[in-house]
Amino acid sequence: MDTKINIGMFGYGSVGQGFYKALKSSPQLDAQIKNIVVKSKHKKRDIAEEHFSFHAEDILENSDIKIVVELIDDANAAYKIVKTALRSGKHVVSANKKMIAHHLEELITISRQNNTSFLYEASVCASIPIIRNLEDYFKSDKIKGFQGICNGTTNYVLSRTGQGLSYKEALQEAQKLGFAESDPTLDVDGFDAKFKLGILIKHAFGIYVTLDKIFNCGIRHIRSEHVEFAKQFNYKFKLFSFAQHIEDKVIGFVAPFLVDQQHPNFNVENEFNAINIDSKFAHQQFFYGKGAGSEPTASAVLSDFSALLNQYKYSYTKTQIQNFSFTTNFYLKIYLASPNFKTLNQIPFQKTEQIHQSKNYSYKIGWLNFESIAGIDFNKNLDLFFAVYQEPFKLSLED
Ligand SMILES: NC(=O)c1ccc[n+]([C@@H]2O[C@H](COP(=O)([O-])OP(=O)(O)OC[C@H]3O[C@@H](n4cnc5c(N)ncnc54)[C@H](OP(=O)(O)O)[C@@H]3O)[C@@H](O)[C@H]2O)c1
Repeated sequence: MDTKINIGMFGYGSVGQGFYKALKSSPQLDAQIKNIVVKSKHKKRDIAEEHFSFHAEDILENSDIKIVVELIDDANAAYKIVKTALRSGKHVVSANKKMIAHHLEELITISRQNNTSFLYEASVCASIPIIRNLEDYFKSDKIKGFQGICNGTTNYVLSRTGQGLSYKEALQEAQKLGFAESDPTLDVDGFDAKFKLGILIKHAFGIYVTLDKIFNCGIRHIRSEHVEFAKQFNYKFKLFSFAQHIEDKVIGFVAPFLVDQQHPNFNVENEFNAINIDSKFAHQQFFYGKGAGSEPTASAVLSDFSALLNQYKYSYTKTQIQNFSFTTNFYLKIYLASPNFKTLNQIPFQKTEQIHQSKNYSYKIGWLNFESIAGIDFNKNLDLFFAVYQEPFKLSLED
């Protein structure tokens, strides 16, 4: 009798193939991929045709398959697959950050109701083991905040603009090297970083924040003047998935930050990801690694799979023991720049520390309430670029 654990896998693309190979080189796991459901009937595959099917039911209705590994690139289809699998009592591993960030709370509920496990380490920074660390290692410690470089494409572009390339040249180079999609919107406008931020906030602070409440501004409008400004003060721009708790509130957003040489993320270059966590007892912890790619992403899927074999489930302890609420009503210090000085005056600053005005490049540095910028779509506003200082964030400017 075959005693191997049967896996039903959806998707055989970059991550799916990585997982297939990783599982093959892990005989100690005593598992086999019983069926792989893919989309295209006419694609050439590097393994025998008999492994593949084109009907989700072949996995979802097969009672011999207890574990589903979902690795497809379609968030809507993935949502249906994962929901159905959890409802029919199957455990699920997924890498689909977009789908998870949108439906996390509902999927957690379904998984609880059906006593199944739903794991998704690969969805945030691929090879960096951040979710399980937040869940287990930091279970009793209190996370004060984190700053993550969670998107390799934007980090690559920022590295190269920092070395003198224009935004357009840097992006084209990233596309040529396979780090950026032909439509890079989700990356360069900070949406991908926001999906990951939403997932991290749940595990770090115990609250689920719907994506429409999380502000994201990307790097589309970075110009050489901004890079020169940063260099002058020994700063670099890094796109952070940022969150912090202040008193009983959590703040979080995606935006470019001006990062100084002392910051652990200062030297994180090119396509690499990193997350710096600050907690009450451990203080600073720094995680660094590959945030994408077939093998690095498959490593996280493999790790989830082997955790499943040990009946592992996320405990969501922070949700049970903390009572935070999300707010956009806080103060921060920013660098706000525009080719047109008048545009800067449309945004109210509470305290201005510096003003620069010249023909095609003006900026203001100062403190403002986040709500005065949270409603602006900086990704679409050609006239404005802003970056956040690492200064303390405050609920009131009086402190
Ligand atoms: N690539 C990375 O570095 C990385 C890192 C972290 C997370 N992820 C996440 O991992 C997932 C997979 O990414 P990937 O890069 O491996 O994508 P990919 O290379 O584009 O492969 C996607 C796979 O999904 C299959 N597929 C699409 N729609 C389907 C459907 N409705 N039913 C069944 N199969 C379907 C495709 O089938 P065909 O082969 O027939 O086209 C293909 O095999 C995504 O959610 C992505 O966000 C990827």
